[in-house]
Amino acid sequence: MLKDISHKTVATIATVAALTVALAATVCAADDTNGNPVQAQIDHGKSTYASKCSHCHGPNMMNSGTITPDLRAFPDDKTRFVTTVKNGKNNKMPPWADILSDDEITDLWAFVSSRRKP
Ligand code: HEC
Repeated sequence: MLKDISHKTVATIATVAALTVALAATVCAADDTNGNPVQAQIDHGKSTYASKCSHCHGPNMMNSGTITPDLRAFPDDKTRFVTTVKNGKNNKMPPWADILSDDEITDLWAFVSSRRKP
């Protein structure tokens, strides 16, 4: 009888311990997805890209590279990126300064940087 109770106690403690670990893991995982500012910027940049840029630069930045440059090959030069996106280029790349906020352009840069070819 005593043996039986202690078995149950051990089982209960084990269950509580397992639940605690599971709960801690869940909290950490939630932190990773919601608390990662870079990933949030990339995600937001991706949706802005899809609505404002993809019809010229290609879905997910894939295009033949003949009319618009392949943005995955764009150098790691944020100043040049922001300048071009705001002012446009050669009357072919439209200017976005009046349409996109600085934050939106920063998020676009995070997305472009995340897709850079090695
Ligand atoms: C109407 C079609 C069109 C749209 C829409 C467009 N682009 Fe472009 N983009 C171009 C063309 C064409 C060029 C090449 C211009 C050149 O070099 O003469 C270009 C060039 C670029 C370059 C390279 C500039 C450089 O300095 O070499 C970047 C970066 C760029 N676009 C980003 C974007 C982003 C970000 C968006 C969305 C906000 C966007 N583009 C929307 C047509 C477009």
